[in-house]
Amino acid sequence: MHILLLGSGGREHALAWKIAASPLVTKLWCAPGNAGIAREAECVALDIADHVAVIDFCRRERIEFVVVGPETPLAAGIVDDLAKAGIKAFGPSKQASQLEGSKGFTKALCTEFGIPTGAYGRFNNAADALAYVRKQGAPIVVKADGLAAGKGVVVAMTLGEAEAAIAMMFVGAFGAAGAEVVIEEYLTGREISFFALSDGDTAIALASAQDHKRVFDHDQGPNTGGMGAYSPTPFVTEEVHDRIMSRIILPTVAGMKARGTPFRGVLYAGVMLTQDGPKLFEYNVRFGDPECQVLMLRMMSDIVPAMLASCDGQLRNFDLRWFPEAALTVVMAANGYPGDTKKGTRIEGLDDATKVEGVEIFHAGTISRDGHILANGGRVLNVCASGKTVAEAQQRAYAAVDRIRWPDGFCRRDIGWQAVERERTR
Ligand code: AMP
Ligand code: GLY
Repeated sequence: MHILLLGSGGREHALAWKIAASPLVTKLWCAPGNAGIAREAECVALDIADHVAVIDFCRRERIEFVVVGPETPLAAGIVDDLAKAGIKAFGPSKQASQLEGSKGFTKALCTEFGIPTGAYGRFNNAADALAYVRKQGAPIVVKADGLAAGKGVVVAMTLGEAEAAIAMMFVGAFGAAGAEVVIEEYLTGREISFFALSDGDTAIALASAQDHKRVFDHDQGPNTGGMGAYSPTPFVTEEVHDRIMSRIILPTVAGMKARGTPFRGVLYAGVMLTQDGPKLFEYNVRFGDPECQVLMLRMMSDIVPAMLASCDGQLRNFDLRWFPEAALTVVMAANGYPGDTKKGTRIEGLDDATKVEGVEIFHAGTISRDGHILANGGRVLNVCASGKTVAEAQQRAYAAVDRIRWPDGFCRRDIGWQAVERERTR
């Protein structure tokens, strides 16, 4: 089978690594890819926002299946356009991508189908939004309705911060994404990422993971796309898992089907484990980055038949198998991230780092030039490891990090701390 993967991050390198291992694949391409993906796939310089160019490429190379990594092309309807051209693609339709593309859409779905989530209001003007937060008080969460590259959420600890966030969104800081604002109850508890695969009709759980969103150790500093992750998380017990499936994931799948916009693809639920049980605070319609990296390390089954079954409505009798080992990934980012970063700095020691037992390195923002690997983005590398415990995976990942020579980059030193602490006290 000829497969084309779209994207260029660490998530896509992990997907490329897993897809390339499938005996069903005769050739894998990736657009645009990165220096690490080039080891697994032929990288092509396609503009993935140009759906006509993507379709032309698929026809030329007789691509039979397209796997879409990031949310932007999904929200732009690439799966619909490929389907119209007769090309099968993994991921939700434009309509179903609204689960990530519009926070208000998801909140309304939760209300309609009784899915547990925080109390909220939706606003299209600053005056009403301000009146609402003044009535509710802080802490409170202010969210731009649309896609804002992970920057559209302000967790306001004071009323002043909430008011400033509302003002910023309504003056157009996020363009059209901020024309509507969702204001949500501040949820307290442990935050986990829960992944399921849906075929529009049913869903099967993938695995749980915990991301580390803040840029610095001890969860300090601004939010980022994610500085590291591990899987499975001990906080998703069997009981929590069953509750998330029965009260959040399956009602969402049923609700989307009932509305005539069935969801096919990866449903990534951001869930807060509150005292009143798991509550949804957001959906994403794709794998998480960096959570995907640890999920791919743990997945024993071939991923390609699972993705095909999701497209074909054949998940009902599907079974995915997982390695029992834990996996952990440490993101190495360029100095300055999540702000401005310098491109073109040289990274050395990668081959040596890969020799640490259980280690796999996935690239994010890298390019290869004259035989050297250079940084080419904010998040640059994912140093991943498996281990019998999260502590062992953590120790291996940091042993590999310490072999990488890149003075222009940094990483958090405490990825997995909550699970490691839990393991120590058991
Ligand atoms: P997002 O950019 O949507 O991933 O949200 C960024 C972060 O904001 C999440 O990872 C949560 O930590 C936090 N967050 C979002 N919604 C809430 C909420 N209702 N209560 C508390 N924290 C939240
Ligand atoms: N790790 C967070 C995200 O993928 O959105």
